[in-house]
Formats: sequence, structure tokens, C-alpha cells
Amino acid sequence: MYRTSTTGYNLIIMKNLIVLGNWKANKTISEAQDWIKKFSIENSNIKVILCPAFHHLSLFIEAKLSIALGSQDISEHPSGAYTGEISAEMLTGLVKYALIGHSERRKNYGETNEMVGRKVKVCLRANIAPIVCISEIEQAVNLKELVPDFTRQGILLYEPLFAIGTGQTDTPEHANEMAIQLQQILGDVPILYGGSISPDNIQQFIGKSALSGVGVGGSSLDAIKFSDLINKTAKLQ
Ligand code: PGA
Repeated sequence: MYRTSTTGYNLIIMKNLIVLGNWKANKTISEAQDWIKKFSIENSNIKVILCPAFHHLSLFIEAKLSIALGSQDISEHPSGAYTGEISAEMLTGLVKYALIGHSERRKNYGETNEMVGRKVKVCLRANIAPIVCISEIEQAVNLKELVPDFTRQGILLYEPLFAIGTGQTDTPEHANEMAIQLQQILGDVPILYGGSISPDNIQQFIGKSALSGVGVGGSSLDAIKFSDLINKTAKLQ
């Protein structure tokens, strides 16, 4: 996740920042097409990952935008008689990433740490990088116990519950302290902060030593706002 660059005679270690968008249960096909038309980012080293809904994925693949795609969830079952589920096998070739254990899934659909662990294993077997969402340290401790090789491809998204969709972020200092603790538990995995990130507050989180980027919900729904957020991140890097 780290790249090196030279300025003068000093070797500086820089992070490839990640901006992750999560559309949740939003957008019709025509709204997604409109978003694709308006999305416009400058060339940079920022890794943009977007998790639209399953029915949008083919639109993005056809549009050939310079962003990576992720799913918002994945089945813990490899394939078979599980009505309504989308398995890793079905997603192969469509997405490189899968969001797992978002707090909305933990709260509304009873997703447990054990289910999260099984979903992560399914992803790793299918070569899909798992992006695990956590709001508490204990969930990361559990993840480490259940899937010791999470570090192989995993990304962690720290999102405190009070910050999701409320307009009130965690403090950048606390988010960074959490990221340091999470790295002590999980090792060298990229840690992202999520919760009410917008183009107006992004600059407070970029440049924090232990953070490798941000997760964005509401502000990813508007193509112009999301492009602005990414372009600002690129300038701050
Ligand atoms: P928000 O959502 O940016 O709308 O707060 C973040 C998330 O749930 O990932």
C-alpha cells in the first residue's frame, strides 16, 4: 500500500490514498447513468473504489471509468440454493472488492462477527479484497482471531456509529488514534475512516499518519460532489 518517491535527496514514504464510495440502496438505472456522465476526476494516484448496487455494476463496466468496483455485501455461501444471495462466484470478474459487515447490516440484518469472518474467507478464496467495516476495537480483535490472514488483501473501514449519516464526524485525531490501535491488532492493513465525510471536511482527515483514506456514503451520491472530494484529496496528498 505504500509507494516511495524521491524529492531532492530525501526518500519519502507516501501512502496511496483510497477514497471509497458506498451508494447503499440508492439510484435507479437512469440516475446511475446520469451520475456516470457527470463524474469527472483529474489524473492522480488516488485509488477510487465505488460500491454501487448490484444492478449498476454492468453500467460501470461498460462506462470504463478509472475507478475500481466493489459490492456492498457478499454471500457467506459459495453458491447454491440461497434465494436472494449474491455469491463470490457470481461476482468474479465484476468486482475487485466487497464491503463486509457495514454497521447497517450488523444492526438491521443481524450480521455477527462470525458471519463477517465467513464472508471474509469467501472473498479471500475468490480473490476479492474484503473491506471490513467496524465501529469498535473488539470487532477487529474478533476478525483477527477468525481470519488471521485478513492482512493478505484486507482493508479496514472504521466508522463510529454516531458519525454515519449524521453530519457529525469523529475528530481526525481520534480517528487516527483508532487507526493506530487497529494496526497494532491487525498488522499492516490500510485503515480508512468513514462517517459524514464531505468535500468540506476531507482536508482534516487526509495526511493523518495512520489513515490510508476515507469511506464516503451520502457525499458519493452526487457525482459532482464526489468528484470534487476526490480532486481535493489528490491535491492534499
Ligand atoms: P455517510 O455514510 O458518509 O453518509 O456518513 C458512511 C457509510 O455508511 O459508509
